[in-house]
Amino acid sequence: MIKALRGMKDILDKRFLKIFDTAREVAENYGYSYIETPILEETKLFKRSVGESSDIVNKEMYEFIDKGGNDVCLRPEGTAGVVRSFIEHKFDKAGIPKRFWYFGPMFRYERPQKGRFREFHQFGIESFGEESVYEDINIISLASEIFDKLNINYTLKINSLGCEKCMPNYKEKLVKFLNQHKENLCEDCQRRINQNPIRTLDCKNQTCQAILKDAPKITDNLCQQCQSDFEKLKSGLKNLEINYEVDKHLVRGLDYYTKTTFEFISNEIGSQSAIAGGGRYDKLVEFLGGKPTAGVGFAIGVERILDLVKIEDKREGIYMGAMIEEAIPYIQKEAKKLRKNKKIFVEVKPKSLKAHLKAADKGMYKKALIVGEDELKNNTFFEKEL
Ligand code: HAM
Repeated sequence: MIKALRGMKDILDKRFLKIFDTAREVAENYGYSYIETPILEETKLFKRSVGESSDIVNKEMYEFIDKGGNDVCLRPEGTAGVVRSFIEHKFDKAGIPKRFWYFGPMFRYERPQKGRFREFHQFGIESFGEESVYEDINIISLASEIFDKLNINYTLKINSLGCEKCMPNYKEKLVKFLNQHKENLCEDCQRRINQNPIRTLDCKNQTCQAILKDAPKITDNLCQQCQSDFEKLKSGLKNLEINYEVDKHLVRGLDYYTKTTFEFISNEIGSQSAIAGGGRYDKLVEFLGGKPTAGVGFAIGVERILDLVKIEDKREGIYMGAMIEEAIPYIQKEAKKLRKNKKIFVEVKPKSLKAHLKAADKGMYKKALIVGEDELKNNTFFEKEL
């Protein structure tokens, strides 16, 4: 038997669409418009944006050479493609803020476990051209509204990574600290000291965590502007009654972030507890060859919240069935008239009245309309509310 690949799943869950509908409605209410970018992109797009030292690019890319000899990969995340598209369509040159939402599959060759798949879906938001920290507050509010509408409890964690002014000084201090403790750090962290020192801060190794408790913190080393923006972020969230915790080690696994970073965490889903993550990426458009343009966004992991979404199975729609074959064209025609905005199901196998009513009940229809010989003659239905 041929099965779906490891870490990939068929989607047969109604809650998936409920998440899509809810997230889309909230995003459009916030003035965001739809974008869909290709699933396959040039590998260098992700190398340049997500970063060569990140786990995603280093270990998890579905990368191959296509028949034309191009080095391509299945997108591991949505931001890079949207930024590429933003530049390709010259929105950067137009200089007008642009706000997009997207929903689609992402691919990471990770070790599958509960909440971690090789194909998973993200609902994402990307906002371009707005450098104000109030935009960060807007998009965090947007994410929280999606979770509120879906009745999902969360903890919001926030941090600031500073900008190109304060980050280099901080990195220097951190590298000095890391070098002092180098021999006790795990292999990954030893490698990160030169490659990407701030990623040591969210290392899961317990010894590293214990050492890094005393590491210098970026939020104690922010420049005046970043410090003031971080204060505005906190008071802006309070203003909107969105609870948060400052997590000074929240650096995120992608290299493009500057200033605000955040994650929504659920404590009801086990160890893969991040249900959304995002932040500011003010240098990314420029880095990918566009005109310098601020950016901020987030993505929700759809599979991670699936089990947290409750939907009641309520009766809806009409079941139509024929007891004799000759009545089938009649019910199909009537169904076409009735359907308009309603859910109308037509059973194409003739069955007894009892069998039809049983099927309609099982299918959670609200009403059954059944046609036998007499009903066909009189152009009527046998009608039953379920
Ligand atoms: P990310 O933190 O890598 O960020 O992914 C966002 C969310 O996708 C995670 O919080 C998690 O819920 C879900 N996720 C990630 N990997 C997996 C997996 N293997 N299986 C299931 N769910 C997963 C990004 O991707 C950024 N592009 C977010 C962003 C948008 N930042 C700015 N704009």
